[in-house]
Amino acid sequence: TWTMSAYRQKMIEKIRDQVGSGRVICGLSGGVDSSVAAVLIHEAIGDQLTCIYVDHGLMRLNESEQVVTMFRDQFNIPLVHVDASKKFLGELEGQSDPETKRKIIGRLFIEVFEEEAKKLGGAEFLAQGTLYPDVIESVSFTGGPSVTIKSHHNVGGLPERMNMQLVEPLRELFKDEVRVLGRELGIPDSFIGRHPFPGPGLAIRCPGGITPEKLDILRQADAIYLDEIRKSGQYDKIWQAFAVLLPVQTVGVMGDGRTYEFVCALRAVTSVDGMTADFYQFDMNFLGKTATRIINEVRGINRVVYDVTSKPPGTIEWE
Ligand code: XMP
Repeated sequence: TWTMSAYRQKMIEKIRDQVGSGRVICGLSGGVDSSVAAVLIHEAIGDQLTCIYVDHGLMRLNESEQVVTMFRDQFNIPLVHVDASKKFLGELEGQSDPETKRKIIGRLFIEVFEEEAKKLGGAEFLAQGTLYPDVIESVSFTGGPSVTIKSHHNVGGLPERMNMQLVEPLRELFKDEVRVLGRELGIPDSFIGRHPFPGPGLAIRCPGGITPEKLDILRQADAIYLDEIRKSGQYDKIWQAFAVLLPVQTVGVMGDGRTYEFVCALRAVTSVDGMTADFYQFDMNFLGKTATRIINEVRGINRVVYDVTSKPPGTIEWE
């Protein structure tokens, strides 16, 4: 019979056979897939693996620190943390088109990754947390072969350019199986159960132009929203939940004064695979309480709205 612990052993043997005494580099994104792949590969070949975490400065509050700490301290996996936020934010300055933003981020990601891999002296193998649905989705993402609604960035093209072979131990697995494997490998439940997070990060949750100030406001609002969701026990019922900082200022009152600040939209959806989604039906008291906290605690936001659009016709992200 098929069990995850047997699969784990099989994959470990397979990785050892493929890699031999070669060196492997793995790009960590902070997500479940690349993390599970890295821990599995580390179990197979130990410190022949080095992880590179390209920090684009578009992560949520404290997220990069959490990822780095987990890998270095808990799993003892060699990890290079590259703070490339200045480079990313610099090149994104003044850019407001969603696809342009994605392309810039995708290109820089590859550039920075390649540079760091060279500094490490190169490697024969590149590890990726590609899942079975990714294999299918890369053929046709949304709406058929000729229509690209959103271009997902990945490190496509990189292995050929760097003359590397791919190590993709999760290629046969679906997301729920990757989670089982992750638990089996000792990755904490809190990490395994995390909602998906897009590669371009907060850049696509700040519609229009991005500034460090806007990102900072968004980070704070998002952290409060997720804190309230966790405290109310709803996190695991939701596929993704996040705040979006709208490029719109509205009038409000605070004490005796008039305010003129940004609008924050809250989004939460249920979904099975991200291809279709329903907006999550929060209790109004929950939304009211969360909105009050955000407006009171985050300077720069004076209005909060909830997105009740399902997919289709909406998309999960706003860009
Ligand atoms: P949409 O917004 O297209 O999102 O309904 C579907 C799923 O894909 C994620 N998403 C992305 N992930 N790079 C990624 O790695 C991207 O550019 C990107 N755009 C959307 C989104 O978070 C959701 O899970």
